[in-house]
Amino acid sequence: MQFGIYGLKPEEKEFFDAWAAENGVTLQFHQEILGGQTPADFAGDDVVVALQTVAYPPAAIEAMAQAGVKYLALRNVGTDNVPFATLAANGIQLANVPAYSPQSIAEFAVSLTLQLVRNFGYVIQSISHHQYTDAMQRTGKELGTLTIGVVGTGRIGASAVKLFQGFGSQVIAYDPYPNPALKDQVEYVDDLADLWPRVDVVDLHIPGTKENTHLIGADQIAQMKDGVYLINTARGNLIDTQALIAGLASGKIAGAGIDTFEFEADVYPAWEKNEAPANPLYEKLLADPRVIMTPHIAYHTETAVENMVTVSLNNAKAFVETGHAPHELDVAKLADA
Ligand code: NAD
Ligand code: COI
Repeated sequence: MQFGIYGLKPEEKEFFDAWAAENGVTLQFHQEILGGQTPADFAGDDVVVALQTVAYPPAAIEAMAQAGVKYLALRNVGTDNVPFATLAANGIQLANVPAYSPQSIAEFAVSLTLQLVRNFGYVIQSISHHQYTDAMQRTGKELGTLTIGVVGTGRIGASAVKLFQGFGSQVIAYDPYPNPALKDQVEYVDDLADLWPRVDVVDLHIPGTKENTHLIGADQIAQMKDGVYLINTARGNLIDTQALIAGLASGKIAGAGIDTFEFEADVYPAWEKNEAPANPLYEKLLADPRVIMTPHIAYHTETAVENMVTVSLNNAKAFVETGHAPHELDVAKLADA
């Protein structure tokens, strides 16, 4: 059995090697993500095991199919970058890792919130210029005095609810499918319009589907409290970036923590080369001390990396041995959605 591993990160290697030794499977490692491959690149692979935040090009999927690969095993949760119709048309089955560590992303969202409400952007900037009195004069807020609006209470959102409550925050949630485990623990609103005016922080934990694109735009921001904070560790398309920038300019928005940026595909090549991304919206947000921009790293803990590797490889092995995987997704259904 042979798997082609794409988008290999150095910190994953020890987990791949340990799993391969235990399971007697050959792994072919590739640092590059799926992009311009030809069928020859996939020769001998039974499964392609991939991780990337930018779109999976249909041409790469077609090249996989031409090489006889029948399975694609993702090492992550989100599938918004996957061309389901191309997979379905080429008879390629798909699996993801739905819960490698919800806590990792939830903790990151809370950490962004803590940094914003304690003015870390200003504080770090001032200290780096030896402006200590400026840092000493910036008064912060305590999470226990704030109401947090958690949008999406699946795996990650539910972890975030519990973490914020641990700090003494009041939490209000919205999810069209409320989480039964939170039934007696959090107040759900029936409509997002009821959440916006009541919360000091909006924390997003929903998928980046077409329907959720620009869930937060100028109209929604107008309904929020003055001085609201926005936290997005979910997907960039959820927030209209132009509206976010306008809200910061007017002072309506007090700060934003953006791990997932709307135009990530445009700035990703620069991130990879450690260069400044030439995207005016990105530059504007990056320069604002009220904004914390991180390069899609909310997931990135030791626990998460180990689980992403081992669960995706278990999916891949099950595909080859049984034709199905524990975390298989129905690509035909997703293509029609
Ligand atoms: P999940 O499927 O367990 O939960 C998602 C929840 O969102 C569901 O309960 C669903 O009903 C709800 N939902 C969907 N649309 C909604 C809407 N418009 N309003 C309110 N609720 C809505 O998923 P999860 O594991 O919690 O992950 C959530 C998202 O986090 C993923 O789809 C992915 O995009 C993102 N993510 C980001 C990182 C990162 O490193 N930044 C890592 C993992 C996942
Ligand atoms: C996910 O698991 O969906 C993420 O956003 C993590 C990323 C490395 C792909």
